[in-house]
Amino acid sequence: MDRFVIEGGTPLRGRTAVRPAKNALLPCLAAALLTRETIEFVDSAALGDIVSMLTMLEHLGAQVEGRPGGPLRVRVANGGGDLEAPYDLVRKMRASVLVLGPMVARYGRARVSLPGGCAIGARPIDQHLKGLAALGAEVRVEHGYVEVRASALTGGDVLFDRATVTGTENLLMAATLADGATTLRNAAREPEIIDLAELLAAMGARIEGAGTDTIQVEGVAVLHGARHGCIPDRIEAGTLLMAGCITGGDVTCAPAVPAHLEALLAKLREMGAEVTTGDGWIRAASPDGLASADVVTAAFPGFPTDLQAQFMALATQARGASTVKETIFENRFMHVPELMRMGADVSVEGNVAIVRGATGLTGAPVMASDLRASAGLVLAGLCAEGSTEVRRIYHLDRGYERLEERLSALGASVRRVTEGEK
Ligand code: EPU
Repeated sequence: MDRFVIEGGTPLRGRTAVRPAKNALLPCLAAALLTRETIEFVDSAALGDIVSMLTMLEHLGAQVEGRPGGPLRVRVANGGGDLEAPYDLVRKMRASVLVLGPMVARYGRARVSLPGGCAIGARPIDQHLKGLAALGAEVRVEHGYVEVRASALTGGDVLFDRATVTGTENLLMAATLADGATTLRNAAREPEIIDLAELLAAMGARIEGAGTDTIQVEGVAVLHGARHGCIPDRIEAGTLLMAGCITGGDVTCAPAVPAHLEALLAKLREMGAEVTTGDGWIRAASPDGLASADVVTAAFPGFPTDLQAQFMALATQARGASTVKETIFENRFMHVPELMRMGADVSVEGNVAIVRGATGLTGAPVMASDLRASAGLVLAGLCAEGSTEVRRIYHLDRGYERLEERLSALGASVRRVTEGEK
């Protein structure tokens, strides 16, 4: 198991490239199941989760050319395999559930292991299943698997009880091949959904309203191949910009889409950071320290839950008390005790954390519990005095491509150490 050893205290400066978004690549890769022709990705990211999705697709009969981190070509010519997404693959990555919608739409049947809870919350998929049932599918849960059958999906009206990102994506994909018109209401509005809709449109799907809470899909008989470039990862960009600010540095991310990060950029400005943006880039600097701010996580365009842990690390360096309210997942404060071991002053009351700063953090061995919590701990390590060891970096590798190299290129001292090395 790899770990990072970080010597804190150097301001990060410079320009860094942002890789294609994990949470856009995952549904777009799953969309390859909807056609017998090739889907070509102009670029991809070398991430644990992308490896997991490609393994799943290969299990389902896909031929994959290229490697994560570069261009990819995915073709599911006949495919379907045993039409089963097994427990051992799904438990590695919950987003595997994204194969459900496309498989039912194309093959009329799918058997997918129920993902179960994860470190950050229970994360049920009831809304995905309710939506598929509204399109005429028969849904059964048995022996830890969900089995969905439909001789032919028919268009329908889906009203999500709560907005769900992968639930919207699953239904969007399923509806493209359904017979007739589908309306998805209370749909999620994340930029990754627009990205998926763009790929589906390039494959011949008829979709309107992606990026709003009402999406309309007119089913078509077949979809064809397409070439697609996914959006830059807004969470990665946000993490790198905060890495700059937490060290009193000056970081520019490009490519990056300012409109995807408005909630974070507004907070950084409120805290006194200098934020400038242009077409395809974002720059943030904090030469004069930061003031406290309050955030509430919310669905897009609100403050992303996937940046909450990193923001909390940043808030330890801001003067005054910041409150951080987590409304999306019920257990996403696992980084708090680790930050406290580094000297952070944080108290938690239910889903609200109060962070009092500015605190001089000191390096310590800490344990990563999930992807974004790990990123929060890395940021804390970058500004802590002395040496911080972040263990279980495999969580981080699921969603950030070689983060240590990119932080080092900005001037940080971050080393990856493999088990057994000193
Ligand atoms: N929910 C339900 N029932 C459902 C679906 C969701 O109750 O059927 C609940 C969830 O438990 C959660 C809330 O609704 O409390 C929102 O969850 P959502 O379904 O939107 O999350 P997701 O689709 O499972 C995606 C991202 C997450 C990100 C969330 C929220 C992907 C592959 N994953 O998950 O990304 O945190 O949306 O924005 O797109 C990450 O990258 O680190 C990550 C966890």
